[in-house]
Amino acid sequence: MSQALLHVSGVTKRFGGFTALNDVSLQLAPGERLGLIGPNGSGKSTLVNCLSGTLVNDAGSVEFDGHKLDGLPPHKRAYLGLARSFQLPRPFGSMSVRDNMRIPLMYTAAVRAGHQRSEKEIRERTDELLRMVSLSDKADARPVDLTQVDMRKLELARAMAAEPKLLIADEAMAGLSNAEVDDILKLLMTLNSKGISIIMIEHIMKAVMAFSQRLVVLVSGTKIADGVPAEVIRNDDVVRAYLGQ
Ligand SMILES: Nc1ncnc2c1ncn2[C@@H]1O[C@H](COP(=O)(O)OP(=O)(O)O)[C@@H](O)[C@H]1O
Ligand SMILES: [Mg+2]
Repeated sequence: MSQALLHVSGVTKRFGGFTALNDVSLQLAPGERLGLIGPNGSGKSTLVNCLSGTLVNDAGSVEFDGHKLDGLPPHKRAYLGLARSFQLPRPFGSMSVRDNMRIPLMYTAAVRAGHQRSEKEIRERTDELLRMVSLSDKADARPVDLTQVDMRKLELARAMAAEPKLLIADEAMAGLSNAEVDDILKLLMTLNSKGISIIMIEHIMKAVMAFSQRLVVLVSGTKIADGVPAEVIRNDDVVRAYLGQ
């Protein structure tokens, strides 16, 4: 993997005396679908936060698409094409679904494209993204009126509005029904088929196995496995620490 899109080396993150991430390294190839799994509290979201810049790691470095990310604030990482969805969706509550889409289109996507879009282009792109996630008929709704699955679709569409090279989906399926999980899974596969690399953090193993070309397992902040999914889930350490629960 000489041309990794994402290169994480030796990332360590401490909260006071507690080590949430311990010397974590991993790579992601362009277009790859990576599953990141591990028990609650194993450091998955902390890793996402260190990658996206909402937390500053204490040691180690992150390189994305040929750029050193260390020291860059979240919005600059977004400008480079790194997008994440939050485990708890964070829409702008006072704005309609449509207006929620406008923000990343007006700012992050504009910087990525190198020019501001016209009103008409923003409108078209918003409609296109809402169609992609099947939210067209809810464009005028407020986020608070959305069902949980629609809220998660909005969260993903907002991340996609920035036209990222990498999307990190942090538990985008938690709490959903089987059919809804399939919906989100299909959506992530569609995005990946457009060339976007995806890191999927998920507990629903059926979805993880259907999605992932590679699996990384975190336990207590340490990476204990990284490889072909079918082999990783048979790994004794992985079964003992996570899957056997
Ligand atoms: N901002 C924070 N301050 C203190 N401890 C935190 C903070 N964020 C996460 N932690 C702790 O770090 C550990 C890993 O959390 P997290 O990354 O959210 O785990 P996961 O996403 O794998 O469930 C947990 O023990 C959590 O309580
Ligand atoms: Mg988490």
